[in-house]
Amino acid sequence: MPEPIEVRPARSEDLEMVAEVLVEGFRDKFRAAFGRHLERAGRVTARILALEAPRGLPGLYVAELDGRVAGTIALRRWNDPEPSPFRVLGILLGELGLWGGLRLVLYMSLLDQPAGRYEVYISDVAVAAPLRRRGVGRAMLTYAEEMARRWNLHALVLDVSAENRAAIRLYRQLGYREERTRSSFLTRWLLGEERWLRMRKDLLP
Ligand SMILES: CC(C)(COP(=O)(O)OP(=O)(O)OC[C@H]1O[C@@H](n2cnc3c(N)ncnc32)[C@H](O)[C@@H]1OP(=O)(O)O)[C@@H](O)C(=O)NCCC(=O)NCCS
Repeated sequence: MPEPIEVRPARSEDLEMVAEVLVEGFRDKFRAAFGRHLERAGRVTARILALEAPRGLPGLYVAELDGRVAGTIALRRWNDPEPSPFRVLGILLGELGLWGGLRLVLYMSLLDQPAGRYEVYISDVAVAAPLRRRGVGRAMLTYAEEMARRWNLHALVLDVSAENRAAIRLYRQLGYREERTRSSFLTRWLLGEERWLRMRKDLLP
């Protein structure tokens, strides 16, 4: 029998593992963004996430399998508070110096998308490599859908690289459809990924 997967709000003590899963899941993007500072990516990510700890880490969730953090997902609503940009910048400059810090700001802005008024915007979906293909991704997206219904929102949306076949297959399997394709020379130049799919799942009342 498969082990149960529990999806729950993230806690401060999860952040190191969350950061590790994110860096592993999006290694190419972290490598592009951090350059020669890649080994600091986990610590910097954990510190930026921790800025929201006093507010209870809103929108950040983890999946537990075998009693450990196996995956993470972020769910954003249009009016969610954002961490102070000055505090984020403070961490980046302190950890990476002036140019490394400013470079990170540019990369972070590339992938940042606003959430629509009646939608949940999904990002940072990642599962630890040894625990993939065991239903963790599916469980986190099912949880996202439950949260969207609880919040009375009408749809879930996300952006995925058109090359990311595993993720696209996962989303399609769960009823997401492609809403549009966007090409960006900037992301091709900086991240090596040019085409992005906006995928959407409307929730029936
Ligand atoms: C995409 C990702 C989150 C999937 O997580 P997962 O826990 O392995 O997914 P699941 O086990 O729930 O898989 C559900 C379905 O997704 C599809 N899928 C998942 N991984 C796949 C792969 N490597 N190849 C093809 N299909 C895949 C399959 O249809 C699978 O169903 P099946 O196992 O019954 O065939 C994981 O591969 C990951 O962390 N990738 C790196 C980060 C990333 O790309 N995130 C998405 C950003 S938009």
